[in-house]
Amino acid sequence: MTKPVILTGLRANNDLTLGNYFGGMLPIIDTAKTRSDEYQINMFIPDLHSFTTPTDHSQLYEQILQTAKLFVAAGLPIDNENIHLYRQSHVSAHSELTWILDCFTGFGQMSRMTQFKDKSSDKDDVSVGLFNYPVLMAADILLYGARYVPVGDDQTQHLEFTRDIAERMNTRFGNLFTVPEPVKKQHAFFGNDQGLRIMDLVDPTRKMSKSANSEKGVIFLSDDPSAAAKKVMGATTDDKAFVAFDPLEQPGISNLLQISALLAGEPLETVIERHAGQTRYGDFKSEVATQVNDFLIRFQTSLANVDEATVIKKLEQSEAAMNIQAGETLYKVQQAVGLRPKA
Ligand code: TYM
Repeated sequence: MTKPVILTGLRANNDLTLGNYFGGMLPIIDTAKTRSDEYQINMFIPDLHSFTTPTDHSQLYEQILQTAKLFVAAGLPIDNENIHLYRQSHVSAHSELTWILDCFTGFGQMSRMTQFKDKSSDKDDVSVGLFNYPVLMAADILLYGARYVPVGDDQTQHLEFTRDIAERMNTRFGNLFTVPEPVKKQHAFFGNDQGLRIMDLVDPTRKMSKSANSEKGVIFLSDDPSAAAKKVMGATTDDKAFVAFDPLEQPGISNLLQISALLAGEPLETVIERHAGQTRYGDFKSEVATQVNDFLIRFQTSLANVDEATVIKKLEQSEAAMNIQAGETLYKVQQAVGLRPKA
């Protein structure tokens, strides 16, 4: 692990959304395309995380492969040896390090994780896996000494938890782990001044999420492009009748401005300025709807052209390489906690 590592993962338990694409995929893929000579890029599918909430196991294997193909369709260059694409469950060090980290993690700290509280609040069948999920995520990151971890705003607390456990282990056992950069530096590195949170189109006070009650507010990467454009046209706005970026007072319009900027690859400020004062929401929505439609056509065409055999070969090559890298970190930790002889 000579180059600094940039790492992220996206679960494969359902169809991915535009929120996943912008929050988890685009930042790392953009970096992979332009800076893979400076950084090692790790893009992986946290398949063990996929069933922290109930899932259809008969579909899971195929969904994992499909997710790998989505990364390639989104532009991840896989013919580059600094770029790794792998499945978490194929590198057993992830599970092994999780157990060790579990035993150094306080129950109280874990109970304060807001995503666990949100996802478990109205459910009866909450698994220990859901509770433990941030520890597995910390293992995913620490095994490779990742410095930058692009994630959406909903994962910020888990990233902070990762930094926290790494620092605690380092204090106790000496320099075991590379601590990922603080969240603010992460945002600056990926060109945001704050975490990204794409909102639901129908209820723009909620995060766009694959588990939303209604699909009307969620754009899936597999949506029919014209149906997705209609979802944009139906997005909830407000009665102010002028386009402005004000997430508190005008959450729907602000969300569409953000989506438009990301799709155009332009700074948000430029898009805000271009639309400032526009009074006809219909015209503005129709521009964003066209952007969404065109993006999905391009993305789905690219997905149809991804060769599955090439993706499987890349997965296998990366998994072999990652077993070596992750195995080295795991061994250091095993030595530190007394499971293996000291060097
Ligand atoms: P997951 O699979 O729920 O989501 C994948 C990525 O998508 C981001 N995201 C969003 N970003 C902006 N707006 C939204 N509406 C939105 N919805 C989702 C998420 O923040 C995430 O970046 N625990 C992780 C997966 C994981 C991981 C890791 C990530 C496991 N191990 C190690 C990084 C490093 C998760 O469940 O993400």
